Amino acid sequence: MMKIAIIGSGYVGIVTGIGFAELGNHIVFIDIDKNKIDKINSSQPPIFEDGLEGLMKKNNGNFYATNDYEVIQDTNVVFICVGTPSKNDGPIDLNFVKDASKKIGRNLKNNFQVVVVKSTVIPGTTEEIIKPILEKESGKKAFKDFGLAVNPEFLREGNAVHDFFNPDRIVIGVKDEESKSILEKLYSPFECPKLTTDLKTAEMIKYTSNAFLATKISFANEIGNICKKLGIDSYKVFEGVGLDHRINPEFFRAGIGFGGSCFPKDVRALISKAEELNENPKLLKAVMELNEEQPLKLIELLKKHIPDLGGKTIGVLGLAFKPNTDDVREGRAVPIIRTLLKEGAKVIAYDPKAVKNFKKLFPEIEYTSAEKVLESDAILIVTEWEEFKNLDYNGKIVIDGRRIEKAKEEARIYEGVCW
Ligand code: UDX
Repeated sequence: MMKIAIIGSGYVGIVTGIGFAELGNHIVFIDIDKNKIDKINSSQPPIFEDGLEGLMKKNNGNFYATNDYEVIQDTNVVFICVGTPSKNDGPIDLNFVKDASKKIGRNLKNNFQVVVVKSTVIPGTTEEIIKPILEKESGKKAFKDFGLAVNPEFLREGNAVHDFFNPDRIVIGVKDEESKSILEKLYSPFECPKLTTDLKTAEMIKYTSNAFLATKISFANEIGNICKKLGIDSYKVFEGVGLDHRINPEFFRAGIGFGGSCFPKDVRALISKAEELNENPKLLKAVMELNEEQPLKLIELLKKHIPDLGGKTIGVLGLAFKPNTDDVREGRAVPIIRTLLKEGAKVIAYDPKAVKNFKKLFPEIEYTSAEKVLESDAILIVTEWEEFKNLDYNGKIVIDGRRIEKAKEEARIYEGVCW
């Protein structure tokens, strides 16, 4: 049993903490948000994440939350899980990481605690920025008086609990033997491959994974756009291509591009770092450019059937950046709805979970039921929620960004973005 502090209770922090609690450790969550603290202390998930509530109820008693960093003094391992948002659409904003590092540093004790960076940070950050702050605030030496490690997360939102318990691999970036053995012990219940690297290689593995996956999606979309013009179903093409084990069929769904809190931000941050190093990351720039244009393909296809959107009611199904989450960050619904409004359309929308978050971005549109959305002049499918597979699309005009087969079969007029 280890005593673990988790700084930041976003989806990475809360899932990691509750996951480790389930494995028999004792967890304290430290957050600045009082609302989140109260929720955690009453065993309520602070965010919507499949399977989390059940695990919190089950492990009630093995964790609590506070805003008081002093509790760190009584822990063996401290995970930094705070956000690293994009600053002006480019480099990452390290303010949360720096602030957490300061407060951790002030509370390090003499019993070799390990500080583990789980937040996604540009290669070099842990040694060049986090380490000096920890050393200055604690008056101690890293790798000697306290441990420092990098342990990137590969958790998908909506599947984060499953991903925590079933990782493809665990990456541990370390420099000193003691941190290595503490982290190996912590991760000993997992049987997947475990890769030990130095600190900045571990940081780079995270960026490279996300950049590759983002590239795979933009690649699928580019091929999908060509297929569409040729009258070919790109899904069949990717099925055939994905059977090559060197390529693999996963993450090959063409559509309206990637959103979320990771891919867009991480690819931008890597581009920005590369440029700072006088490298021109041409491929990554194209990945982002394609991703920005892709959602607007939906409007292009819509206008093939309704050339003037002025005064028309357009229904949007799905506002979350993907199914099973209430997260709307960088969601493809944002540029789509912005363009519809600019074209003078009346927008009505439905999402099973994300309405509350989306309202903050677009208070001016109407939020309603799926049935009501189906009565619009045309329907745009933006997120592939399971329940959209059971709606009645008979007689409708449907422009589909996410491949809902029932809509394809039933709609009076149907356009798929890449098929
Ligand atoms: C991602 C990574 O998968 C995860 O490993 C990382 O740690 C955090 O970022 P997440 O952002 O939760 O996870 O979502 P993910 O399921 O990867 O999807 C990202 C976006 O890509 C979504 O908008 C999704 O709709 C889109 N996508 C995904 C596609 O368009 N096609 C695909 O084939 C797969």
